[in-house]
This record gives sequence, C-alpha cells and structure tokens, in this order.
Amino acid sequence: MIIKPKIRGFICTTAHPDGCEANMREQIKYIKGQPALSDKAPKKVLVLGSSTGYGLSSRLVPAFAGGAATLGIFFEKPPTDNKTGSAGWYNTAAFEKIAHEEGLYASSLNGDAFSNELKDQAIQRIKDDLGQVDMVIYSLASPRRQDPETGEVYRSVLKPIGESYTNKTVNTDKAEVYDITIEPASDDEIEQTVKVMGGEDWELWMKALGDAGVLADGCRTVAYSYIGPELTWPIYWDGTIGQAKVNLEESCSRINALDGIASAHVSVNKAVVTQASSAIPVVPLYIALLFKAMKEAGTHEDCTEQIYRLFSDQLYSENGPQTDDKGRIRIDDWEMRDEIQAAVAEVWKQVNTENLSSVSDFEGYQKGFLKLFGFGIDGVNYDAETDPLREVNLGG
Ligand SMILES: NC(=O)c1ccc[n+]([C@@H]2O[C@H](COP(=O)([O-])OP(=O)(O)OC[C@H]3O[C@@H](n4cnc5c(N)ncnc54)[C@H](O)[C@@H]3O)[C@@H](O)[C@H]2O)c1
Repeated sequence: MIIKPKIRGFICTTAHPDGCEANMREQIKYIKGQPALSDKAPKKVLVLGSSTGYGLSSRLVPAFAGGAATLGIFFEKPPTDNKTGSAGWYNTAAFEKIAHEEGLYASSLNGDAFSNELKDQAIQRIKDDLGQVDMVIYSLASPRRQDPETGEVYRSVLKPIGESYTNKTVNTDKAEVYDITIEPASDDEIEQTVKVMGGEDWELWMKALGDAGVLADGCRTVAYSYIGPELTWPIYWDGTIGQAKVNLEESCSRINALDGIASAHVSVNKAVVTQASSAIPVVPLYIALLFKAMKEAGTHEDCTEQIYRLFSDQLYSENGPQTDDKGRIRIDDWEMRDEIQAAVAEVWKQVNTENLSSVSDFEGYQKGFLKLFGFGIDGVNYDAETDPLREVNLGG
C-alpha cells in the first residue's frame, strides 16, 4: 500500500509505519547520544498514554537511557490490510521492535485506561511479568472519559471561563491567521472537563496499583501539566483545561499521602506539537512563534529532549527535583524565560496571514505536525509500497 497524509482539520487520518519507525530511531539516537541516567533511575516503568507525545518520550527515555522494562498503555487503532493504523500504533510497534532487539522488556495494552478492566489487566500483566513497578507516568490526553463506576460519559471542552475570549489563531491547513471568538464554558462544561483531564483517574490508578501490591518501595509517579504565558491564559490556564490542571495538582497532593508512594509530582512541560495541542485554539499560532524564538536562542526542545531533561536534571539528579512554590517541576523554564516571552509577545502583535512564514516558524510547526504521523521524514520513500500491518506485543 502507498500511504500519503490525509489531513482533516487538526488530525491526519493516515499514518506511515516506516516514517513512524524512522522517527522512533531518530529519538532513540538522540537519547543514546546523551549521558546514561543515574543508577537511581527506574528499572520497571508503567506509562499511561505511552503511544504519542509526552507519554511516548516517557517510555523512550527510561528504556534507552536507563535500560528500563516498560509496560505501555494507550488507545490506538490497529491497521487492517487496506487501512493504516494510527500513528500511536506504529510508534509502539517500532518502539517494541527496537527495545526487543536490545533485549529490553516491552509490552503494551491497547484499550480504555479510564476503565476498571484495563486497570485489572495492567495489574495482572505487572504481576506476571514484572512483579512490581518503580515508576508510573500519567500522560493521558483525551476528549472523553467514561466514569468506571457510574458509566456516565464526560466530555472535555477547550473554552474560557466567565467571559468570551477573542484572539488571533491560525488555520493550520490554509496557513491563514484570523481572529477567533470563543464563548465561555457553562458550569457543567467546566465540571466535565475536570472529570476528563483532572486528576481523578490518576488517583484511581495509583490506589488500584497500591492496593494490588504492585508498586515497589520508593515508587515515583509523575503527571504532566502546562501553564504557558499570559497570552494564552484565557484559553488555557484560566480556562476549562486550566481548572482540570489545578485539580490534577490537588490529586498529586492526595497521591503523595498514599502509603507506598515515595513521591508524586506534577511536571509543567513546554508547549510542543502533539495531537492534543493541535486541537487547542490559539495555541498552534503561539507554538509557531515560540519555536522561532527558541530556535534562534538555541533552546528549542521537543518531547524527547524535555523528558530526558526531566529524568536526568530533575527526577533522578543528585539533588532530586527542584520545584516551584506550588511543588511543581518546571521543565517549561526555557520557554518561560523573559527574553523568549518578550520576543513572542512582540511578534504576536504583528503576525498576520501575509507575514506568517517570515515572522514565525510555521514551517516548523507544519513539519512537526506531519512528523507526528510519520510523514516528511528524511530517508523514507513515500512513493513506495509498504505493508500497513505491524505487530504490537499485547501479551495474553
Ligand atoms: N502538547 C503539549 O504542548 C503539552 C504541554 C505540556 C503538557 N502537556 C500534557 O501532557 C499530557 C499528554 O499530552 P500529549 O500532548 O502528549 O498528548 P497526545 O495526544 O500526544 O497523547 C495522548 C496519549 O493518551 C492516550 N489515550 C487517550 N485516551 C486514552 C484512553 N481512553 N485510554 C488509554 N489511552 C488513552 C493516547 O493513546 C496517547 O498515547 C497531557 O496531560 C497534556 O496536558 C502537553
């Protein structure tokens, strides 16, 4: 099958297995070019949301910089003879192939991580194969969640709170900058977003794993957040998703108080191109401006660079993680530097459709978006036939 990108708004409905594999090899090469993680780094890691974005990098880094065994959990579409799988499926197939070549344990579960069934399956897999885990990464990003007890389905929205919000945004397909107005969320929409993207499910996971005795002494857990500059606060930090992230921090405090958890942290990460961030109004334009400023300053990072720094300089460094006044790890520090934010704010005032490609790194944004799906990667022949079927080790 010859596979080309089919973009519909902010998703691509096809993915290229060889491109995803080439991307995995590129990430692994980067990781192996860095110093190995310290002896304190985890050896058995459970990653929730391990197939794309920050969760994928959180699987790659402990595996290839620390030799860790990993169990990955995600919700992805497997391929058929005539339809491609989702990018996360192919990323996982490639990750596992390379991990197995190097003698590393890697297995996966594909299903709804919010359900009790998947938690039970994960516990059983850990008992059978690993005994216990010494790190749990929580990196789910989802538009919906079914409550495992009541069966009620909650949906998250990306809206401001209190008043409507108007700002510039970019139509990433057409490369057009225009003003968007987003009406404020209702109380019900705020509550539903907190149910989906807040910390309730992270707490449920940690309690279930702890009760089942599969958390090793000294086990650590981390979930991810974003704060960003004032420019995006109305749609992010002060909006519905921000409320969910505040809830995540509250869950973090409660998880820290659970028996058997050495430490729970929220890590505030940098804005990057992922399937989740491309769905947020205004943010893709901000990212295009941010990338230009950070590339010019020589401080640009993607998910894997960020997560390597989280493990090496923060979580497993000599002095342990350094946190802000709210106990959060800040690997968004380079994004939030005054000179970077001043540069972005200045260009934000001027950016329009005509100057988009010269004043921002919109090209970098688009390349990053295509790369998520395995497209636009050097060395891959996109005109050649390729087999869409790729194996993932789902065990059982
Ligand atoms: N993208 C950014 O710029 C950015 C910045 C800072 C923090 N974060 C945070 O990082 C976390 C991960 O976001 P991302 O951007 O890497 O997202 P992503 O869309 O790349 O990844 C989401 C992951 O969740 C999995 N998933 C979704 N629903 C699931 C379900 N029901 N069951 C099992 N797995 C499911 C997907 O398969 C995938 O592995 C989020 O908390 C996000 O807020 C993202």
